[in-house]
Amino acid sequence: MAEAEYRAPVGTHDVLPPDSSRWAALVQAFAARAARFGYGLVITPIMEHVEVFQRVGAGTDVVRKEMYEFTDRGDRRLALRPEGTAPVVRAYVQHHPTPPWKVWYLAPHFRYERPQKGRYRQHWQLGAEVLGVDDPDVDVEIIALAHGFYRDLGLRHVSLLLNSMGTPEDRATFVRVLRDYLLEHGHDLGPEFLARADTHPLRLLDTNVEDWQDVIERAPQLTQHLSDASLRHFERVQHGLDALGITYELSPRLVRGFDYYTSSTFEFTSTALDAAQKAIGGGGRYDQLAEEMGGPPTAGIGFGIGIERVLIACDAEGVLIPDASGLDAFVIDALGEHDATQDATLLVAELREAGLHADRAYGGRSVKAQWKLADRSRASFGVMLAPKEAARGAVVVKDLETGDQLEVPRQQVPGWLRAHSEPNPEAGR
Ligand code: HAM
Repeated sequence: MAEAEYRAPVGTHDVLPPDSSRWAALVQAFAARAARFGYGLVITPIMEHVEVFQRVGAGTDVVRKEMYEFTDRGDRRLALRPEGTAPVVRAYVQHHPTPPWKVWYLAPHFRYERPQKGRYRQHWQLGAEVLGVDDPDVDVEIIALAHGFYRDLGLRHVSLLLNSMGTPEDRATFVRVLRDYLLEHGHDLGPEFLARADTHPLRLLDTNVEDWQDVIERAPQLTQHLSDASLRHFERVQHGLDALGITYELSPRLVRGFDYYTSSTFEFTSTALDAAQKAIGGGGRYDQLAEEMGGPPTAGIGFGIGIERVLIACDAEGVLIPDASGLDAFVIDALGEHDATQDATLLVAELREAGLHADRAYGGRSVKAQWKLADRSRASFGVMLAPKEAARGAVVVKDLETGDQLEVPRQQVPGWLRAHSEPNPEAGR
């Protein structure tokens, strides 16, 4: 087998310690916030029948060109989840829970994209969805959930872009106006522009081809064509965000990448990152989707946050530093042949059961080698079991940062360590 086959597939990556400690901290921060907002965890399969995704984006690149589709041994057409909303709506339609149904998820997503920094073939999203209420206060709540999460992590350079896609009727009227405008004003911009103006005029709005910008920037805006009801909803959302002190920028050309969006749409961008990877989360309403999947008419709204992108933003802002080990104690066994009673094994077990983070060396290493491992482990304290101290019923405790050393009675070790350890946020202590 070629060497390349023993590497993770292109566009995927392993997450190893200590970097994985940031994942744990990030997921814990999101889970805690979602729980405070009254959201329950939902777990859907990693694959669905392809129809579930075709519903949400027959006209989008993610579904048309980037899906990992396959036929299983029973001849079913399945796809690995390219996005998280469709499976959640499918689950809602299948199980008809009592609305409002407020859920959050953590899941791997698969898109056959051209890999680059911040763009992977497998990426992870933290997301939240609310089904069953068409109330602008829910739009505000869901935006506040994501906004507060970025703040919890310490990110400061995050902008919120806000738009409204109106109702499908508003959008149909607007698409006609937009298409006419683009075809008329862009008649000399070449065949590709004209073809796209004709088939997907909305999608043209957020392309960044330099030569097209003049025409695109002067194009009519959807928010000028909203019905009264859509406009009222959009204004209520803005007032709610104002009331919470969440700043946003109206972004009339924000067109999100799926067909299902209606009404409020939004995107969080990191101003600390390059354009290609700056979208660190996004979402919006999808008030028709449940019905399109055979369910009752059910309003819906949610967002997805790309974990890898958020971590790149954290790097750029110098926050959420990997936690080296989080160990409180590293136990050093200097008893050797004096240890007939497995004292080291017992002490490590006792510390762990007392809720402390403790580790040790294995394989009969010399005392010197064990101290080296203790230093490398970045534990707060080394705890040595040695014959002289053991005879007095004590152990040696060394502060591995300052080098200070003292004797602590063996019975008091867990209590002493607890009193002298920093609370470990990751462990929730
Ligand atoms: P999305 O904008 O396609 O929306 O993805 C959400 C986030 O996932 C993006 O803002 C980005 O941070 C991250 N992301 C997307 N593609 C990649 C990739 N190839 N590599 C790394 N990160 C990526 C959705 O998926 C919708 N389901 C969001 C939603 C939920 N709308 C309503 N509810």
